[in-house]
Amino acid sequence: MIDLRSDTLTTPTAAMRSAMADAEVGDDVYGEDPTTKALEERVAAMFGHEAALFTPTGSLANVLAVRSLVRVGQEVLCESSAHIARAELGAHGAITGLTMRTWTGHRGQIDLAAITEMYAPDMGPFLVPTAAVSVENTHNFAGGAVLPLADLQGLRTWADEVGVAVHLDGARIWNAHVATGTSFRDYGAVADVLAVCLSKGLGAPVGSLMVGSADAIADARVWRKRLGGGMRQTGILAAAGLHALDRHLERLAEDHDHAKLLAEACGVDPAGVDTNIVVVPRPDAAEFVAAAADAGVRTAALGPRVVRLVTHLDVSKADADEAAAILSRL
Ligand SMILES: Cc1ncc(COP(=O)(O)O)c(C=O)c1O
Repeated sequence: MIDLRSDTLTTPTAAMRSAMADAEVGDDVYGEDPTTKALEERVAAMFGHEAALFTPTGSLANVLAVRSLVRVGQEVLCESSAHIARAELGAHGAITGLTMRTWTGHRGQIDLAAITEMYAPDMGPFLVPTAAVSVENTHNFAGGAVLPLADLQGLRTWADEVGVAVHLDGARIWNAHVATGTSFRDYGAVADVLAVCLSKGLGAPVGSLMVGSADAIADARVWRKRLGGGMRQTGILAAAGLHALDRHLERLAEDHDHAKLLAEACGVDPAGVDTNIVVVPRPDAAEFVAAAADAGVRTAALGPRVVRLVTHLDVSKADADEAAAILSRL
């Protein structure tokens, strides 16, 4: 079975397991896990921020990150198919007490005109004030679309002018970097706070990080514990993340090539595939997914008329070729 449902399905390689087994560990709630500290320092420095915090999931990193910018009764503006709006099961409203308003961007893109129009200043007891804008790069539900750096920088300039903060959901920022060559520092500079995931294309079994200022991270450390995300000998997991950054970052280009190949096989223009996700319009998504599974390829129906294919570490060139032949036939 070739599994194209998600890039979260990767299993740790033998070398990654061995790095995990050898990790130096301590109690991370006591701040005494050297491997976790090394990972946090490395990722913070990559993005040009002061500090980072290891979390079990990308969802928790996003909740902590957005919470660092938005208070009860304030709002965050985001794209209508953003992961924080569609797939975090109301956590931001339930935990932070914020509300969201959304714009709909073609392929998940930033629409600064719409954002400017939506922005609400603090008007006391009349309107929900906008505290932050959240963007997602790459954009999952928009088929792994990259947000151009110029658009991110335009948003940053506008946000500074009006005094709102910027959150970047960078679960797949690694793919954006590899696809465009944009530096992590440039991505880091456009956001007050980021969330990044090690457990997607990078192939670690567990782990994400919130990245931001030292103050924001210190506060998030308390909230992480409050929400049950304070873990103990996390060095075992952080070692997988460090290994992934060393060994699995540049190879993401292969996943992007495989995604283009699959797109072509499914009649989707490969020029519109930026990274490792292909969104295939199908009037019969459920039937297509079932037929593909019968033929040996697992895919995911994102809705009644959309099938998603995701390439990753556990899909070789031979797998991609075989899947392309099967999907093309279907
Ligand atoms: C863009 C994006 N952000 C955040 C997440 C959340 O990550 P996790 O599943 O680790 O909570 C995902 C997961 O797929 C994602 O695609």
